Amino acid sequence: MAQPELKDDISVCFDTETVDWEPFTPGSGPPGVRARILRRFDNGSARSAILDLPAGWDSGGFHVGRSDHQGFVISGDFYVGRNALTPRAFFYNPAGSPFASIGSRGGALLLMIYDSPPHYDFVNPGPIKVSDDAFILADAMAVEPVTPEIKGTKIPGFERRVLFKDHRSGADTRLLKVPGGFEGRGPNWHPVHEEIYCLAGDIGPDDKRLLKPGWYLHNPQYGIHGYHEHSISGATILEWHDGEWAINFV
Ligand SMILES: [Fe+2]
Repeated sequence: MAQPELKDDISVCFDTETVDWEPFTPGSGPPGVRARILRRFDNGSARSAILDLPAGWDSGGFHVGRSDHQGFVISGDFYVGRNALTPRAFFYNPAGSPFASIGSRGGALLLMIYDSPPHYDFVNPGPIKVSDDAFILADAMAVEPVTPEIKGTKIPGFERRVLFKDHRSGADTRLLKVPGGFEGRGPNWHPVHEEIYCLAGDIGPDDKRLLKPGWYLHNPQYGIHGYHEHSISGATILEWHDGEWAINFV
């Protein structure tokens, strides 16, 4: 493969609390949900977003999405039909797979990831066939961790939990625990887009920026980043990619 054209230092990093809320009702459903969009597709719709479901909001029946969605419960309570989800729950539903009413009794913050512009349609009552690929993890932290390897060397102190893997595209989502005192191996790039949301602790891609809980980082495809990856006290992050991830050091 020809060497792709690399770009230098084009990562985007911000505190999601600084992002304006906007109404979020993609397709059919009652209003009331608002979103902080973290990253957009070319048409402006959400690739990844934090959704705020107000207390008592309910989608009002079965819906089906035109895109795959993944979600992580950041805080509050959330339900999918009779399944009650609490913080650290993770769920996946592929395009075309209907799902029962979703909502929140006391309010919830969700981190959502869409593989294409989100759009939901009502499903008329009738036989409902949920995809066998759809799943809910009650606690993402309960997934068995693996110690990641970089170029054949295990990284001690790291715990990688793979929450989702799309075997067609190679896209995945990981819950990653990084030990305090971590120091990266220097600038690198990936053949896919990498997005990170910090859940706990601190982690910095370089000496200019330090992610704290609620911070977001987008390392674009072919973008050189990680000039000084480090964590002072350790971190827990969600990290997701839109294709098969690999690391290339510069
Ligand atoms: Fe990276």
